[in-house]
Amino acid sequence: MDAPAGMKVRIQKDLEQSSRKVAERLVEIAASAIRERGRFCLNLSGGSTPRGLYGLLAGEFRSRIPWSRTHLFWGDERYVPKDDSRSNYRMARETMISRVPIPAVNIHPVPVEETPVEAAAESYEKHLRDYFVKREKPIAATFDVTLLGMGEDGHTASLFPGSPALDETKRWAVAVRAPGGIEPPQRITMTLPILNRSNFIFFLVSGEKKRTVALSILKGKDSSAQYPSAMVRAVAEVVWYVDPSILQE
Ligand code: 6PG
Repeated sequence: MDAPAGMKVRIQKDLEQSSRKVAERLVEIAASAIRERGRFCLNLSGGSTPRGLYGLLAGEFRSRIPWSRTHLFWGDERYVPKDDSRSNYRMARETMISRVPIPAVNIHPVPVEETPVEAAAESYEKHLRDYFVKREKPIAATFDVTLLGMGEDGHTASLFPGSPALDETKRWAVAVRAPGGIEPPQRITMTLPILNRSNFIFFLVSGEKKRTVALSILKGKDSSAQYPSAMVRAVAEVVWYVDPSILQE
């Protein structure tokens, strides 16, 4: 498939195989990141699609990830308590973090305990800047890998179509409200300026309901420009891992 420049498409037989391929790539990138910078910065996505990947990283791939040098961040978070069933942090903790030997200081969740939500977003941004900018050797990229999903409306992280957050050119994290019907409404999301500084971005997208939007993005249709998932760029490359529910070979 001729995907837009800077974007690659990897078609696997199903989501499980896509997750496995991403896990393999994370092992490779983690090894080189640690050789080059002494740490591996992985920016997690939320929702349900990455559950299988996180389970693989905590299970079959557990010994192949350098957990003591791995740092976890969240591309977005629902503004709910960390133990709320809708929390992206809780999902990652249950499927992966609680099962791997990662030091607590390496886990960088969105501070959803701060109020109001704008203060939580500002704190997260400060934390990100302190981590990436005020370090001995500032690096071009921020995250070695950012994992992203895509909603049926083409949103990614919590960047929704038409959101003013898409026009943000300076802030790295902002408070947003999801459009009607998407629960929970209040969220904190990273913005394109920081997401697009990831070295690699891997989309994991599966499910018939996402096919039309995903195909328009992967084919570089003009109509896809409206979708936040089409606005994502990476320093090295953006790779979409899909299966026949989205795209047949
Ligand atoms: C979130 C996610 C969001 C997610 C998509 C896909 O907080 O919901 O960050 O961007 O990746 O909505 O969600 P599913 O994987 O559940 O389809």
